[in-house]
Amino acid sequence: MTGDGPSAMAWREQDPMNKSPFGATGLEVTPLGIGATGSVEVITLLLDQGINLVDTAQCYGEHELFLGRTIAHRRDEFILVSKCGHHDVLPDGSMRSRAIGMDDIDQALELLKTDHLDVMLLHSYDQDLLIKGEAVEVLLKARQAGKIRFAGYSGDNESAAIAAAMDGLDVIETSINLADQHNIDDALPIAQRYGAGVIAKRPVANAAWGWLDQPDESFKKNKVAPYVRRLRAMNLDAIIPDMVDSPESWIALAVRFNLSVSGLHTSIISTSDPGHARLNLDIAAQGPLPDSVYEAIRQAFRSAASNSDEPWKGEN
Ligand SMILES: NC(=O)c1ccc[n+]([C@@H]2O[C@H](COP(=O)([O-])OP(=O)(O)OC[C@H]3O[C@@H](n4cnc5c(N)ncnc54)[C@H](OP(=O)(O)O)[C@@H]3O)[C@@H](O)[C@H]2O)c1
Repeated sequence: MTGDGPSAMAWREQDPMNKSPFGATGLEVTPLGIGATGSVEVITLLLDQGINLVDTAQCYGEHELFLGRTIAHRRDEFILVSKCGHHDVLPDGSMRSRAIGMDDIDQALELLKTDHLDVMLLHSYDQDLLIKGEAVEVLLKARQAGKIRFAGYSGDNESAAIAAAMDGLDVIETSINLADQHNIDDALPIAQRYGAGVIAKRPVANAAWGWLDQPDESFKKNKVAPYVRRLRAMNLDAIIPDMVDSPESWIALAVRFNLSVSGLHTSIISTSDPGHARLNLDIAAQGPLPDSVYEAIRQAFRSAASNSDEPWKGEN
């Protein structure tokens, strides 16, 4: 499998809210999932429409607690994904993944008011510690105890590819969007080979198109900065002008781009705006992009990446 091309997604053209197999997990997911948001209205609206995957993490402020208070009563309607082991900042200012223990899992269960998580991910875990395997062992013990159904990894590039092939890890969450395509070529083919479920984080490129006409100073400290630079260099204006001529056309392009990526199972768009959530559903109902448009965006990325001084890797 190349991990490329929308042709394998024919079922979604018939009904884009249909669930599809989540890798070899035996679970089924909708093509859009629910990224971390503090809006009960957004989460309720999306669950009411049948969206069935909710993403959170130990380090997202009090987000697990919030979800436990607001949607635990609907627990049988969604696949619940959390993450643990995010970086600690050491006294010298460097960052290092934290060793995890069963108490991390127990805390998530308590906050989320559930007796099991569907997926627990190692959160941007340092590659050497991932390979060492102690954290994976903890997740596997939690699995044996029935506290989680599947273990996985959230991160990018070589680490995501390694995780996708690792025994005991069944899910990866990795950055995939029209301005972040490295993981499509590197991690996705491996995930497909090993049957890993794949979740796209940062799926609409943090709406980077909103910054394209802004001075560099205004976004240079924002996490969106690499995406703004990449979209400028990809120059989609010249290639598919009608599809990038307004904020509405940009978001449609971004959502449909991810629907077109073969081997990607769900995209956890984050929004705090119910209008945006409704729009994203309407866009998803249009299905994947035409092959020619998808290929043009893939080619624009490859070509601009090869001319860039900085590596266009997956952004964490
Ligand atoms: N290391 C990790 O594990 C990691 C890292 C990053 C993200 N994540 C996960 O991935 C999720 C999504 O990532 P993300 O929030 O960074 O990126 P994202 O979903 O690509 O972008 C979110 C941005 O898109 C905007 N947006 C959404 N729908 C829109 C619409 N219809 N029109 C205009 N703007 C729209 C949102 O603004 P509005 O609120 O105004 O709609 C928000 O600013 C997170 O919530 C988190 O669960 C995980």
